[in-house]
Amino acid sequence: MVKVFGTSFVGEGVQSSMNSLLFASGNFIATSAPARGMNQDRRPRRLRTDGVRGLVSETDLDASDLIAPVFVDATTDERVPIETMPGHERVPVEQAVARVEEIRETGVEAVIVFGIPEDKDERGSRAWAADGVVQRAVERITAETDAYVITDVCLCEYTSHGHCGIVEEHAETDPTLTVENDPTLDLLANTAVSHARAGADMVAPSSMTDGMVGAIREGLDADGHDDVPIMSYAAKYESAFYGPFRDAADGAPAFGDRRHYQMDPANAREAMREVALDVEQGADVLMVKPALPYLDIVRAIRESYDHPVAAYNVSGEYAMLHAAAEKGWLDLEAVAYESLLSIKRAGADLILTYFAEDIAERM
Ligand code: PBG
Repeated sequence: MVKVFGTSFVGEGVQSSMNSLLFASGNFIATSAPARGMNQDRRPRRLRTDGVRGLVSETDLDASDLIAPVFVDATTDERVPIETMPGHERVPVEQAVARVEEIRETGVEAVIVFGIPEDKDERGSRAWAADGVVQRAVERITAETDAYVITDVCLCEYTSHGHCGIVEEHAETDPTLTVENDPTLDLLANTAVSHARAGADMVAPSSMTDGMVGAIREGLDADGHDDVPIMSYAAKYESAFYGPFRDAADGAPAFGDRRHYQMDPANAREAMREVALDVEQGADVLMVKPALPYLDIVRAIRESYDHPVAAYNVSGEYAMLHAAAEKGWLDLEAVAYESLLSIKRAGADLILTYFAEDIAERM
């Protein structure tokens, strides 16, 4: 890298001294001349001086755009660092309020809560338990802080097999079998209702179950939570960038993968159909996940809908920048900021990101 820059620098030097020679004439020396064909009226660099850059800047990143993920773990009574996500921890329920207060101190106002339950079963029943890990944490956070509390509604952290719903019999051995869609809907609705009862301000279904937004909307309304918005993980891809999260939340599938329910990374038009269905079912905020490898999807949704668009800058996007920075190959703060700015520029209004605290502190 150093060599590449060195070479090109020498190249420019040679070029400019050649120009000086070529254009020396009479009693003045033109040390530079416009390139042939250049229109001298148009100089974009005029708007790049320090005084004006801020005035013409098209995109702003603000702490109020960011949502920080919080992991609450029912299996521990002390904070446990998440190895693949430097700076993040799983915290016990007793520490949930303290964790959220740390986040609020940086200027970030919203959190999304993920839970690691004390035990798992085939149906993921701890996901909707009134005394479940998320429910207990949310009760405390909403009672004791001013944070805006969003909950992830999914079953993969709660099922013994790690899939995002009830799985068909023999799915373990037959790769064509997968999550049963319709029987999973009630469980998701129950989970969302239990979160709202605990005080959640917003729910975010992430299981890619067809009909999940409608089922959850119905469940919430029937239980008196018609004021709780749904942020749907509307276009969620079957991505290898979730790797570090599965370490954090202990939600890796025990067998198979999620390709039968999460979207194929090859597809963009399909995302628009997914989103249309969620909008029909009453989604209030539309999320794309992951973020950086899918900015075309963020932009396409932004252009077709007037709903707020969210993008999830996922665990792998965080981990790879950290890994490169650790090697001294990238400036972490600069690439993190540039990543989030790019996500906003593509059209996202809100960003879920593990960089939330670090970036907010810098602003
Ligand atoms: C599902 C869920 C996942 C993530 C958020 N919600 C994991 C998955 O779909 O496998 C991933 C988030 C990340 O990678 O940061 N409950």
